[in-house]
Amino acid sequence: MKKIVDLIIEELKPAFTGCGYDEKFIRVTLSNRPDLCEYQCNGAMAAAKAYKKKPIDIANELVEQLKDSSMFSEINAVMPGFINIRLNPEYLAGYVNRMASDEKYGLEEAKDPETIIVDYGGANVAKPLHVGHLRAAVIGESIKRICRYMGHKTIGDVHLGDWGLQMGLIIEELHDRQPELVYFDETFQGEYPEEAPFTISELEEIYPTASAKAKEKTEAGEAFKERAQEATFKLQNGYKPYRAIWNHIMNVSLADLKKNYDNLKVYFDLWKGESDAQPYIPGLINDLIEKGLAYESEGALVVDVAQEGDAKEYPPCIVRKSDGASLYATSDLATIIEREKEYQPERYIYVVDKRQELHFVQVFRVAKKAGIVKEDTQMIFLGFGTMNSKEGGPFKTRDGGVMRLEQLIRDINGEVYKKIQEKQKVPENEMECTAEIIGLAPLKYGDLSNQATKDYVFAVERFISFEGNTGPHIQYMIVRIKSILEKYEELKGKDAERQPIRPAQSVSEKELQLELCRFGEIIETAFAETAPHKICQYMADLADAFNNFYLENKIIAEEDACKQASFISLITLTKEILDTCMDLLGMESPEHM
Ligand code: ARG
Repeated sequence: MKKIVDLIIEELKPAFTGCGYDEKFIRVTLSNRPDLCEYQCNGAMAAAKAYKKKPIDIANELVEQLKDSSMFSEINAVMPGFINIRLNPEYLAGYVNRMASDEKYGLEEAKDPETIIVDYGGANVAKPLHVGHLRAAVIGESIKRICRYMGHKTIGDVHLGDWGLQMGLIIEELHDRQPELVYFDETFQGEYPEEAPFTISELEEIYPTASAKAKEKTEAGEAFKERAQEATFKLQNGYKPYRAIWNHIMNVSLADLKKNYDNLKVYFDLWKGESDAQPYIPGLINDLIEKGLAYESEGALVVDVAQEGDAKEYPPCIVRKSDGASLYATSDLATIIEREKEYQPERYIYVVDKRQELHFVQVFRVAKKAGIVKEDTQMIFLGFGTMNSKEGGPFKTRDGGVMRLEQLIRDINGEVYKKIQEKQKVPENEMECTAEIIGLAPLKYGDLSNQATKDYVFAVERFISFEGNTGPHIQYMIVRIKSILEKYEELKGKDAERQPIRPAQSVSEKELQLELCRFGEIIETAFAETAPHKICQYMADLADAFNNFYLENKIIAEEDACKQASFISLITLTKEILDTCMDLLGMESPEHM
């Protein structure tokens, strides 16, 4: 379905051309003075310059042509030359009814569906998920869902950090603890055991211990680090026993990661990692050399990425260190080669901490320069800011440690549980599941309602509140609608006759309809600008509009059956759109709260 704004533009066109003005001057926007009008056209201002007339004279001329249009209930020219518009309630209701019967509520899907890779999550294997990974997961999941809803073929890839020094550290720590394991017996010829020599909780303890050891500024610390580097090198060069340990680490760690992401309702299509890109590295390096792009600098192999007009300095991208080892950028470039081979995406969206921006600018530029991706492939870096605590600084546990994601989720669910227990609206057998559904709202809405690039303060008490601009508040509004619909069904039975949404007869009724109309436009913008916060804002506005309507109208007590049924249709559509937005952000609404 066409957007209301575009339909208004179409209605204005004949007036513009009829008066001798070029239609390119037409501008229509939602009014920023809802007290005066609903939509606004400021085309007369732009036309005034070109035709050397007073804007108000042009506006008056246009309004004269449009005053009989059945689309508007009010259209007038105001100084200095705006045209204020109110929609005819009949017209608006017609539009809203068409939305209600459209599968995507009037959203126009992408005309040329793209293949899009969303690279998000980015967990590092063998290291527990902590709150630092929360934003990547929450924002990325929402972006993936928005792309998909727009009709694009969208592939979400977790892109694990599974190839770095952490692997060597674990191997050597294991070596120290259990030197008798067959992996450390160079003469061993048999099959390696299927069972991992550690559990997830052991693994979670092994890594930090090893990492701390390697950071010690002592001879022993230095030696340990060197051994870990050596082990990493051996692993990366295919040394069988270490590959076997690596497989164990992957299996144990992945099962745990999946469980954690599941709890967050974050689902990846691909569970690839840096290790998968390794086979493409030799070809990549050769290609960069052959194309004359890579050259030696202080023993390392580098590619220039600086471009004319750069506002800041972009140092060359190092693709091979002087000791022959590859780096983060090498592995990201090799991953792009793999993705091009498998999917030929038109668009890549990376959802990663904004401190990695330079890295991605370098990688994107090398990928374009070397023709790894097409000239017009869109390479988008969505860098997010830090989640801070109220006391300032990154969010931590009470004693200052790194907050585990599992712990944070458990804490929040606990708080929510207490709250719904007090309110006594949730049946006993739904309590736990409801607490989990509500618990995700502070985490996700609290994050997504901010522009991703900005840092934000994670204020648990505020985010958890059922009032204000919070996720639970919106859930609460949806639950309210559900309960009205339930009561209505009890009253009238399941098959009560449906009525179309009637032309609005009060301000709150009309405002709710006007809000509903914006859905398609909001989703389009959220996609085009990779900006889930626009959906949050919209949900909050829509929930507000519903609440005003609810406070001003009786629904269940309404005596006029026809009017009542129309209200039911109106709030049903409201609920469906709110639920759809929720889903696009990776949340749900409970049955009771
Ligand atoms: N594992 C990385 C980290 O924790 C994030 C990976 C982001 N994605 C990528 N393609 N580099 O910093």
